[in-house]
Amino acid sequence: MHDMRIIGGKPLEGKIRVAGAKNAVLPILAATVLTDEPVVLRNVPNLFDVRTMLEILESVGYRCAFQNGQVTVQPGTLNTKNIPYQAVRKMRASFNILGPLAVRANEADVPLPGGCSIGVRPVDMHIEGLKLLGFEANIAHGVVQTRRRWKPNFVNIVLKFPSVGATEQLLSTAVLMNNINVVINNAALEPEVQELALFLQAMGASIEGIGTSTLRVQGVEKMHGVEYEIIPDRMEAGTYMMAAMVTSGELEIHGIRADHNESLLQKMRSIGSEVEIENGIALVRCRSRPRSSETFVQVYPGFPTDMQPQMTAVAAVSKGFSFISDSVFKTRHMHVPELQRMGAKIHIENGSIIVEGIPQLSGAPVRATDLRCAAALILAGLNADGETVVQEVDHVFRGYDQILEKLRSVGAEVEVVPSTNGNGKGPIG
Ligand code: EPZ
Repeated sequence: MHDMRIIGGKPLEGKIRVAGAKNAVLPILAATVLTDEPVVLRNVPNLFDVRTMLEILESVGYRCAFQNGQVTVQPGTLNTKNIPYQAVRKMRASFNILGPLAVRANEADVPLPGGCSIGVRPVDMHIEGLKLLGFEANIAHGVVQTRRRWKPNFVNIVLKFPSVGATEQLLSTAVLMNNINVVINNAALEPEVQELALFLQAMGASIEGIGTSTLRVQGVEKMHGVEYEIIPDRMEAGTYMMAAMVTSGELEIHGIRADHNESLLQKMRSIGSEVEIENGIALVRCRSRPRSSETFVQVYPGFPTDMQPQMTAVAAVSKGFSFISDSVFKTRHMHVPELQRMGAKIHIENGSIIVEGIPQLSGAPVRATDLRCAAALILAGLNADGETVVQEVDHVFRGYDQILEKLRSVGAEVEVVPSTNGNGKGPIG
């Protein structure tokens, strides 16, 4: 593991280019097993999670090449029963390969993903949906053993919650169920889910209702290879825009999709940031402390849960009292005690985060527990007086491509060093 050392208090100024979206490329990679033809993906971010997904594709018999932001997936003989537990354990999104494998090969065994620091992460909607699609899904020894048992003519699925992963899993299965009509109601609307649907369509799938909560699929017999460009990462874009906010800086964020960031942009403007967007470039100016606000995290197009920890860091240095509630992951609070160590005046009341903003945080050693917690603590460190050491910062490399280089390029004083408990493998970046 590694630590990130940050000397805070400097306004960030300059240009940052947004990388491809982690949460778009992961389900798309899982869906490449739906075809026996090559797939080429461009604008792929160089992230730990992407490399984990490529490992999983290799474990099922496909061959992957990744260089200069381009991934080529070459088909091979499908092997559907030895997905490595460790890969699924460390990255939940790998569970999305279950349905595509099972519909290609009529069977698949994939380990159950674990929970993580942001909460219990059940997969009941995934499994119930697969059963409705005609699969038997039994859990034995921590593995979901899926077998295709019958072929319904028509399936109507109603998700109890617009789950991103369940929508992606079931959509990626239904598309290859030849001559079977499937309707997914209460489907997730996130841009990454829409992108997966567009990718599947490009491979030959028949999907109606993309961008709505009702997806209608007519299964096809075969899907073909395709070349596809990954959309920019709205969470990365949002995190750097918030870096400008907590340092009273001015940043140009290049490669942003304004239509994917509406709720965040609205929030930023409401708390005093000047944000102009033109031709995919957002100019963010924050020449004074943010104003306080109420943030109600919702599914898309609401304020995203993956920006909630970062928003808490912004609230910690805003003027006045702020209120944050997360209706997606109700216990996503692991960043709160760490921010408190840095002087943040925060408390949790009935599951909501109540913050009294202060002018500046105080640098301190803190520990990251997950990807977005790490991002929030880095933002806090960029604001703080003195040195902040974000321990176990490796989580951040799961979702932020070249974060060290990008922060340094806009004036941040940061370095990554082996963890203070000495089991790191040398500096990164
Ligand atoms: C995706 O996770 C994202 N990950 C998460 O981003 C994101 O926070 C989340 O969607 C919500 O937007 C990827 O896309 C790889 P869900 P996912 O299924 O699919 C409950 C990040 O930092 N639920 O929409 O796992 C679940 O417990 C990560 O990039 C069930 O109860 O999220 C949660 O409360 C973190 N049963 C809610 O639904 C199920 O079968 C939303 O989860 C599935 C989910």
